[in-house]
Amino acid sequence: MGRAAGSWRGAALACGLALLVLGGRAAALDNGLARTPTMGWLHWERFLCSTDCAREPLSCISEQLFMQMADLMVSDGWKDVGYEYVCIDDCWMSTTRDDQDRLQPDPERFPSGIRKLADYVHSKGLKLGIYGDVGNKTCAGFPGSYGHYDLDAQTFADWGVDLLKFDGCNFGTLNQLSEGYRNMSLALNKTGRSIVYSCEWPFYMRLLQKPNYTEIKHYCNHWRNFVDVYDAWNSIKSILDWTAVHQDSIVDIAGPGGWNDPDMLVIGNFGLSWDQQLTQMALWAIMAAPLFMSNDLRHISPQAKALLQNKDVIAINQDPLGKQGYRITKENNLELWERPLAGGAYAVAVLNRQEIGGPQTFSFSTSFLGNGLACNPACSIQQILPTSEDWGLHNWVSFLNVEVNPTGTVLLKVVVIGESPGEMPLMNIHKKKSPDIL
Ligand code: GAL
Repeated sequence: MGRAAGSWRGAALACGLALLVLGGRAAALDNGLARTPTMGWLHWERFLCSTDCAREPLSCISEQLFMQMADLMVSDGWKDVGYEYVCIDDCWMSTTRDDQDRLQPDPERFPSGIRKLADYVHSKGLKLGIYGDVGNKTCAGFPGSYGHYDLDAQTFADWGVDLLKFDGCNFGTLNQLSEGYRNMSLALNKTGRSIVYSCEWPFYMRLLQKPNYTEIKHYCNHWRNFVDVYDAWNSIKSILDWTAVHQDSIVDIAGPGGWNDPDMLVIGNFGLSWDQQLTQMALWAIMAAPLFMSNDLRHISPQAKALLQNKDVIAINQDPLGKQGYRITKENNLELWERPLAGGAYAVAVLNRQEIGGPQTFSFSTSFLGNGLACNPACSIQQILPTSEDWGLHNWVSFLNVEVNPTGTVLLKVVVIGESPGEMPLMNIHKKKSPDIL
């Protein structure tokens, strides 16, 4: 548990000033939370706004659903590998506030109340997340928090909530959107409870104005930039493309305490082939993304479960250096991504975007990785996905031939060996490479 954030308001102002003066790497929201990307389960993509428990008793948004997921998170090994937050999304509320103006859950679907649900989740050693909206109404039309930020933050804290996903529908003016996100952050902090603050601020802001990520990181633990994920390859592709196109403005800001959120993992559902599920898991690790599964833990294939619980991939996602990865190149439908890891190691993903034909081979020099440093003078390479394999020792003049299925990904971990003589002069990932490098 991170330290309860009680007194950073003054410090925050001073720090904000320092940032203006110094520029450079942005300070994260100082609540001690999300030092590595948050991991858990979130209901939205799989269960949406199903409120008719008579018709859909097993999938309606009810306390029973979250209790069952909490049970399975413990009994089926999810908690052991790091998934910790059981999160409620939209549609948990009653359509009106109570007589003291507080948000209240739908009484039929949450008859025991959120406090009891939080107690239950905590008794399992897990944490509870909840959902609210900065505007007048949530995206699904339930009461929004506009004008009630302090009251709602206090209500969530009184209930024992550990994470707030704060949506941005129905926000009024841009100023109200930004004020709302800032005020809710301050309100959560004032409660003295450690509550992870998950924002959609830049996504809504971008519709009107370029987001200020330094400020967003100062107030939020993670933030959505782009549209909702769907259970479809088109959706995963568009998220990856958006991220790669905007990497110059979003990668450097990510770090302990503040992460870009490309939205939920849909592995274990219906829409992605096996290779596409590998791609989502590998690239979410490269992107240092929060890992919120949205699937049905009661019905999940052993294969999907093993992928989501793969400790080597999770270790890359949770790497303590906390740097987000980026795309190095895209050539002939083959993409090369890398993520710097602690100890001078790199995670490397090769993705085949060609949707016709069979496996493609991408051949590249190891000197292309880590700005020339990853295998300099030598490195050991471990294949992490699709299967764990030892690729042995390589050096800075080695060539790698990586065969990748259509829409699939091969994920590698490259660990440098020996003293590096320094950066290779001819390498610069931000510049167009000469053809003979590949
Ligand atoms: C969207 C949000 C989704 C989900 C939904 C609920 O705006 O991006 O992740 O929370 O609202 O209505």
